[in-house]
Amino acid sequence: MNPQATTETEILRGDADGIARATALLRAGACVALPTETVYGLAADATDARAVAGIFEAKGRPRFNPLIAHCADFESAAREGVFNADARRLAEAFWPGPLTLVVPLADGARVCDLARAGLRSVALRVPAHPLATAILHALDRPLAAPSANPSGRISPTSAAHVAQDLGGRIAAILDGGDTVIGLESTIVACLDGEPRLLRPGGVSRAALEAILGRALADPSEHSEPTAPVAPGMLTSHYAPRARVRLDARMIAPGEAALLFGGTVPEGMVNAVAVENLSETGDLREAAAALFGAMRALDESGADGIAVAPIPDHGLGEAIMDRLSRAAADRG
Ligand code: TXA
Ligand code: MG
Repeated sequence: MNPQATTETEILRGDADGIARATALLRAGACVALPTETVYGLAADATDARAVAGIFEAKGRPRFNPLIAHCADFESAAREGVFNADARRLAEAFWPGPLTLVVPLADGARVCDLARAGLRSVALRVPAHPLATAILHALDRPLAAPSANPSGRISPTSAAHVAQDLGGRIAAILDGGDTVIGLESTIVACLDGEPRLLRPGGVSRAALEAILGRALADPSEHSEPTAPVAPGMLTSHYAPRARVRLDARMIAPGEAALLFGGTVPEGMVNAVAVENLSETGDLREAAAALFGAMRALDESGADGIAVAPIPDHGLGEAIMDRLSRAAADRG
């Protein structure tokens, strides 16, 4: 039924051995489904773009949505993001727990570009689940983890749900029984200006407003690339300044080239700047390199970015979705 089902998925018990095995797999760059108090997450090392690409591959996500980076505690989260007074107050009141805070990216943050979908903000959460906490402490780095379901399907609240949906596609599932909340975390953006509710979830609006001492704003429709964006309307991912042209086989004057694979089309050798997403034609490597390569080409000062043909199967679909939107963003 599933053409990409090639992995034997290990089912791990929620004990010390299971924690050790899950930690070792994650450290090696694998994807492991873990329980949190909200829903099961499909976790990978948030600092490793190849590992994060594995999440998108396993979920069959049609798009590179930004993912939540889970941290062991507030101190770890504060290495990744900048907390203003509101964010600090909310973290203090609700962490560990079902609240995700979208904050500006900190200098020296380790969460990779792909996990943030190229945004200059980062979604951070300290989960309240002993298994997740133990692994985060052992790893000493953030874990990117969207809900552990195939894209567009219902979020899993038990290890059996995950096994049904993603068995054969991920390295392991750590069984922590049924999740207690069963609904995703609430997402609040604390960027410039008023805190905004991006997604309702495990912490109620009333509880958040009681801590803030004022009403939460709703997501704005007109978002800058660094401004809050609501789930489902993430059209404002990092959009390059340079014009993006897809399926290019020739370079126009002043254009940079975004290549894929070992053979450079003859018409593309004289680009003003060149990035190759994967010389070996590996889509996972390409996904991991995408946002960094776009940024580098944009910063080269080129007028435009000519993108060589990229296969549209597997992760290629998400890569092409992202590139198409970058190409379309220029009105
Ligand atoms: O309860 C939860 O939050 C679960 C568990 C596993 O922690 N995780 C979860 O992740 O629901 P996911 O990937 O399904 O939802 C993350 C949402 C995305 O839809 C995206 O809209 C939003 O978080 N998000 C992430 N980074 C963002 C950012 N920088 N700006 C705005 N929204 C962001
Ligand atoms: Mg989800």
